[in-house]
Amino acid sequence: MAGELWEGRFDGGPSEALQALNDSFGFDRRMFRHDIEGSRAHVVMLANVKLVTQHERDQILAALEVVETEMAEGRFLAVASDEDIHTAVERRVTELAPEAGGKLHTARSRNDQVATDLKMWTRQELGEIVGLVLDLQSTLANRADDVGDSYLPGYTHLQQAQSVSLAHHLLAHGWALSRDVSRLFDCLARMNTSPLGAGALAGSSLGIQPAQTAAALGFEAPFANSLDAVSDRDYVAEAMFAISLLGVHLSRIGEEIILWASTEFGFVTLDDGFSTGSSMMPQKKNPDIAELARGKAGRLIGNLVGFLATLKGLPMTYNKDLQEDKEALFDSCDTIRLTLVALRGMLSTLEFNTEAMASQADNPYSAATDLADFLVRAGMPFRSAHGVVGKIVRDALAGVAPMADLVRDHPDLGPKAATLLQPGVSVRQRISPGGGAPEAVVAQRAEFADRLQQDEAWLADIGTTSGQG
Ligand code: ARG
Repeated sequence: MAGELWEGRFDGGPSEALQALNDSFGFDRRMFRHDIEGSRAHVVMLANVKLVTQHERDQILAALEVVETEMAEGRFLAVASDEDIHTAVERRVTELAPEAGGKLHTARSRNDQVATDLKMWTRQELGEIVGLVLDLQSTLANRADDVGDSYLPGYTHLQQAQSVSLAHHLLAHGWALSRDVSRLFDCLARMNTSPLGAGALAGSSLGIQPAQTAAALGFEAPFANSLDAVSDRDYVAEAMFAISLLGVHLSRIGEEIILWASTEFGFVTLDDGFSTGSSMMPQKKNPDIAELARGKAGRLIGNLVGFLATLKGLPMTYNKDLQEDKEALFDSCDTIRLTLVALRGMLSTLEFNTEAMASQADNPYSAATDLADFLVRAGMPFRSAHGVVGKIVRDALAGVAPMADLVRDHPDLGPKAATLLQPGVSVRQRISPGGGAPEAVVAQRAEFADRLQQDEAWLADIGTTSGQG
């Protein structure tokens, strides 16, 4: 019966309705490795401070080994009283080592246990997510290298604005992702304290050493305040925020690919393996991955907002509401991983139709700012130059004459200025640092490579210091 954990105090067992609502083993069993890792550290510490004998410690460690194997191999037999992963592991350890097993939960509560397990799970997961983001960034960088000096219209208000190199555009998404990586690292740094040893809420009377378990589990330090340790789920909310914003960035990439794959834009052709057909319309090739990247962002935001709502009214310390942390976080992590991998596949295989891009970018109106800059170079104030070029654009649009003729014949502009309207010339003008000309992108590309390398090194470092591998 599920009431075994507290049967001393209760007359009857739990109702079916309670169990159905209350049990979390169905979803929290995926933390089994972390639960077992935490139990190992705990029992070693208990032996160090002489709360269990070395023999009892070894029996418990051996039982934990068996449980881990059973769970990893899918051979673990759950029973009705396995309310959650912590209960299940302890119950089985006690079956395997009846005498010693009863001592495993000494000076420990499921409250500090669950906070510790979920932190370890999150730490590992965020590290893996960072790895996938870095892969996607590499793909963007490689594609930027592939496309050389190709260019396309840059947009504001989704109106053609100034042409930019395609590499510049691809790297723009790469930089947004590097902020996501930095946010995930920040989150990992801030959550680096171990809650184990906080007990139910107030610590213990038994002389335990939380610093020992913290070190064994690869945390930088133990908690400072036991009440905070068991009630803190900031790291869950922060992780879900970092993942949501990452999801928003993927959504924006998705939205752009959807536009670019349309017949109207025709800027990209998706690979067959990363697009879908229509059951009715034989001509269709749909950008489902890009659409799902856009759609999943809503779900990620929902998980975050839902959990913040769960947290907002909670008094200190542990409240069962906190059990809601896991499904939301698990879903956000699973969702972002799937999206990162699929989007990466789509981006690495799609074909850029650089001719279609260039022919849009070579629209003479895209060079309007360059014409104004030409006048500025000759000494005209920018505001007046803007007016001169604006008048030419208006006349060209009204059909007075083609833009190139109006420029060539203008007394302040002339044939030299008219060369700015020739294909591929405008994009090469914006050579200012961080600008869109291929020449400026060379430095940016190098900076991006440095950044990627630094982030990869940090990730490798976290892998070795967190004890998670
Ligand atoms: N399954 C619980 C959770 O996920 C574990 C902690 C239970 N603690 C308790 N006092 N009932 O939050």
